[in-house]
Amino acid sequence: MKRSTHLLLKTLTWIACVWPLGRLIWGAATNHLGADPTATITFATGSTTLNLLTISLALTPARRLIPELSWLVKFRRLVGLFAFFYATLHLATYVALYAGFDLHAMAADIAKRRFITMGLTAWLLLLPLAATSTTWAIRKMGGKRWNRLHKLVYLAAVCGVIHYWWQVKPGVLTPLSITITLALLLASRPVWSLWQKRLRNRNAVPTAAGG
Ligand code: HEM
Repeated sequence: MKRSTHLLLKTLTWIACVWPLGRLIWGAATNHLGADPTATITFATGSTTLNLLTISLALTPARRLIPELSWLVKFRRLVGLFAFFYATLHLATYVALYAGFDLHAMAADIAKRRFITMGLTAWLLLLPLAATSTTWAIRKMGGKRWNRLHKLVYLAAVCGVIHYWWQVKPGVLTPLSITITLALLLASRPVWSLWQKRLRNRNAVPTAAGG
C-alpha cells in the first residue's frame, strides 16, 4: 500500500474513533447531553467500547473472506486501543459521576451489583492488552505468547456483553444486535479452522499405503 494511502486511511480511522468523544464534548459544551447527562455519557462510552471491540474482532474474518481487504488488519491495534480508551472513560464516568469518588460505595457496588463486577472484569481483561500493545512488547514477548495473551479480547468482549445484558431492564432487547454480531464473530474462528483443516486434508499428497 502506498504511504499516502496508508496515511489517509489512518487519519480516517482516527477521525471515526475520536468522533463519539467529539460528539460528547460538543454536547457538553452546548448543553445538549439530554435530561440525564451521566446516562448519556455512560451509554455513549459503553456502547462505543463494545462497537470498537467488535470492529477489531471483525477485521481478521473480513480479511479472510475478502483478501483485498488485508490492509484493514494494519488498523486493528489502533481500534483496539481506542476501545480501551473508551472503556476507561466509561469507568471514569462511573467513578466520578455515579460513585462520586467514594471508595466504600465503589467497593460495595463491586461486591453487590453483578453487572458492575462483570464490567470491571471486562476492563481488567483489556488492561494487559493495552499495556502490551507496543511494538517493543510484541518483540519482547514473542509473537506466539503475544497472540495467546491477546485472545483475551474475546473474553473481554463476552464480559462486556454480559455486563450490558445484566444492567438493562427485563424485557429490554437493546443488547441483542451486538450479542448476535459477537456470537457470529466468535463462531467464525472454529468454523474457519475446520474448513482450513478439511482443505489441507483434501489437498494432502496420498500416502504410500493409500496409493
Ligand atoms: C469493556 C468494559 C465495559 C463495556 C463494554 C461496558 C459497556 C456498557 C454498556 C453498553 C452500557 C449500557 C449503557 C446504557 O444502555 O445506558 C453500560 C452501562 C453501565 N456500565 Fe459499563 N461497560 C464496561 C465496563 C464498565 C465498568 C468497569 C464499570 C464500572 C465499574 C461500568 C459501569 C456501568 C454503569 C454504572 C452503567 C450504567 C448502568 C445504569 O444505567 O444504571 N461499566 N456499560
